[in-house]
Amino acid sequence: MRDLKGLILSGGKGTRLRPITHTSAKQLVPVANKPVLFYGIEAMAAAGIREVGIVIAPETGGEIRAAAGDGERFGVRITYIEQDAPLGLAHAVLTAEPFLERSPFVMYLGDNLLRDGITDLVDAFRAEEPDALILLTPVPDPHNYGVAELDGGGRIARLVEKPQHPQTNLALVGVYMFSPHIFEAARAIEPSGRGELEITDAIQQLVDRSLRVDPHVVQGWWKDTGQVEDMLEANRLILDDLAERVEGELVETRVEGRVAIAPGARLERATVRGPAVVGAGSVIRDAYVGPYTAIGEGVRIERCEIEHSIVLADSTVENLEGRIEASLIGRNVRVGRSPALPRAYRLVVGDNAEIAIL
Ligand code: DAU
Repeated sequence: MRDLKGLILSGGKGTRLRPITHTSAKQLVPVANKPVLFYGIEAMAAAGIREVGIVIAPETGGEIRAAAGDGERFGVRITYIEQDAPLGLAHAVLTAEPFLERSPFVMYLGDNLLRDGITDLVDAFRAEEPDALILLTPVPDPHNYGVAELDGGGRIARLVEKPQHPQTNLALVGVYMFSPHIFEAARAIEPSGRGELEITDAIQQLVDRSLRVDPHVVQGWWKDTGQVEDMLEANRLILDDLAERVEGELVETRVEGRVAIAPGARLERATVRGPAVVGAGSVIRDAYVGPYTAIGEGVRIERCEIEHSIVLADSTVENLEGRIEASLIGRNVRVGRSPALPRAYRLVVGDNAEIAIL
């Protein structure tokens, strides 16, 4: 088999993570203080892939280039491929054809996270050389995904993108391996109801042409971080495997369990109960940071309690009586109690935000 290339899809609109993604690419939202996209690049590098193409959108591509660079620090070489409009995953594959040439390739959706990486699957693909290898996993809400139906022999019978009435609970995971046959298949399909060229339909074409599509059911956890709840859940799952590392400065502070505190962070009269991460340059003062919380860089948490949450860089949360939980707080946000009268809620909130006050 020719050497495998990698393709990461980081274009698209990111509407479901709004308002966070009004200002930045959804693939750069951090999980346990690392952009989701980086987990994908690292998984490719670990599987021995050296040439990685990243599909970007015109609006958010600049940010992605700035974050991932030429790939050297991951041990891969990155080529950026601009897709003019988010016309679907199969359209993204066709856009990347000049980069992929006739190489077999691994495609990884830039907002997906797989706990166990892809190395074993890439090895199976290299060894068995099917025309495509797809990953499946049981989910409670299959109508949100591509759904697979298998025949009695465990082969793919049918694939349907986001069916209203799913026939199984087996979702397509956002990692796929393809031979160059996928290009002909992608050229043969029509846009779906949502106006996209669906990769699910292109794979169905391979099945219809009696090409070999191998399904693998994934064992470890998998997350599509397209929605806020998924993002918090992914954060929880990654933090569960966190290595303890306290490098910041601690003053009269209690740290319990697995906690990573970056250099340059300062904690005063705080309690941090892991698993939790605190980014560089953050200040936590007279506050409680509870389990499954990721505090980004340059954040200030003062006189309040927070847990099961993600706070992005340069934000401030202070002077609150109730505990903040299950929250995703964007960049450069201020949440706090103001001493000024009259006592009232005063909000400056972006479009499509969600605020729950008790
Ligand atoms: O997460 C798994 C699911 O991913 C599969 O079960 C579905 O079959 C598959 O269609 C896909 O569904 P989504 O609706 O979740 O895909 P989304 O639009 O979120 O796009 C996935 C990634 O690909 C995301 O990082 C954005 C990028 N993308 C998307 C489109 C539509 C592109 O780069 N270009 C595009 O045109």
